[in-house]
Amino acid sequence: VVIAESPAFQRALAMVERVAPSDATILVTGESGAGKEWIARQIHLASERRDRPFVTVHCSAMPSTLLESELFGHVVGAFSGADRDRAGLLRQAAGGTLVLDAIADLSLGTQAKLLRVLQERRVRPLGADEELPLEARVIATTNRDLEAEVDAQRFREDLYHRIHVIAIEVPPLRARGDDILPLAQLLLRRAAWRSRKPVRGLTEDAARILLEHSWPGNVRELENSIVHAVAVCTGELIVPQDLPPRVRPTQAIAGLPELAPLAEMRARYLRQALALCHGNKSMAARLLDIDRRTISNLLAARTGSCVASRAGHAGHPGGG
Ligand SMILES: Nc1ncnc2c1ncn2[C@@H]1O[C@H](COP(=O)(O)OP(=O)(O)OP(=O)(O)O)[C@@H](O)[C@H]1O
Ligand SMILES: [Mg+2]
Repeated sequence: VVIAESPAFQRALAMVERVAPSDATILVTGESGAGKEWIARQIHLASERRDRPFVTVHCSAMPSTLLESELFGHVVGAFSGADRDRAGLLRQAAGGTLVLDAIADLSLGTQAKLLRVLQERRVRPLGADEELPLEARVIATTNRDLEAEVDAQRFREDLYHRIHVIAIEVPPLRARGDDILPLAQLLLRRAAWRSRKPVRGLTEDAARILLEHSWPGNVRELENSIVHAVAVCTGELIVPQDLPPRVRPTQAIAGLPELAPLAEMRARYLRQALALCHGNKSMAARLLDIDRRTISNLLAARTGSCVASRAGHAGHPGGG
């Protein structure tokens, strides 16, 4: 199911349809959690490559030597420990799509090698004499301002121009007002099905809170909030108290200063106690004069993994 009620997202999807059929490299930009990888998958699904592999490489997850052997592959003896040939992901994704997630995190050396691969559409595995054709379509994603990275000499200008030819910007969720409730409904159905709970919607008040929140964490934050709400919900409809405190506005009362929700303060206090005790729950329990089980329960509730309890609404301690 693809939800696109907002003009901003409709424009992004129209671009997806337009560029999907070609083999051109595409740059997908947007804030963290906005759905860059999701868009990359839509490009893959809208292309002739849809039945072939879709592979994502997280460029920030490993040191560059390891990343290079992952991407380009290697032959036996290319480095100590290379005891057999490896095809590399650029080759394994042959006929399909390879996503380079967080491309701004590539080292300058790896950027140079990638540029050659994209320009010549040929891959040379580490230590190999032969080059092999590049048959994967490459999509790069970033949440950084690549032009600023170029200015700061952290990103090669030639590579930037090479991948920037076709760019799709994924709008932040706050610019997609009309998508918030339909997305929430979709994510809710999914979360309810997964946790086998009869939750089927939101009250009007809860919906209004979702519409008014600014969603700095974008679709991922919405998804986490809905999973949390479904986990603690005791009825068929999500009520405001089911939503993580981070999402709920604090209740301002005329003439009084705003206070943080008690649940949030409790979670903060708990984290502080645990930090003082280096994560030792028994010691933290003694420090706070409560029993260890209570600590465990509070922690479980905080990560949203608790099963709904009647007491939940009075003060489940925080959004995790
Ligand atoms: N249009 C959408 N419909 C349903 N789910 C979506 C949509 N867009 C994003 N999501 C979900 O939101 C989460 C975040 O999306 P994604 O991983 O694509 O974001 P991202 O921009 O790549 O984030 P990051 O910058 O952290 O890498 C994922 O769980 C994804 O499935
Ligand atoms: Mg991503």
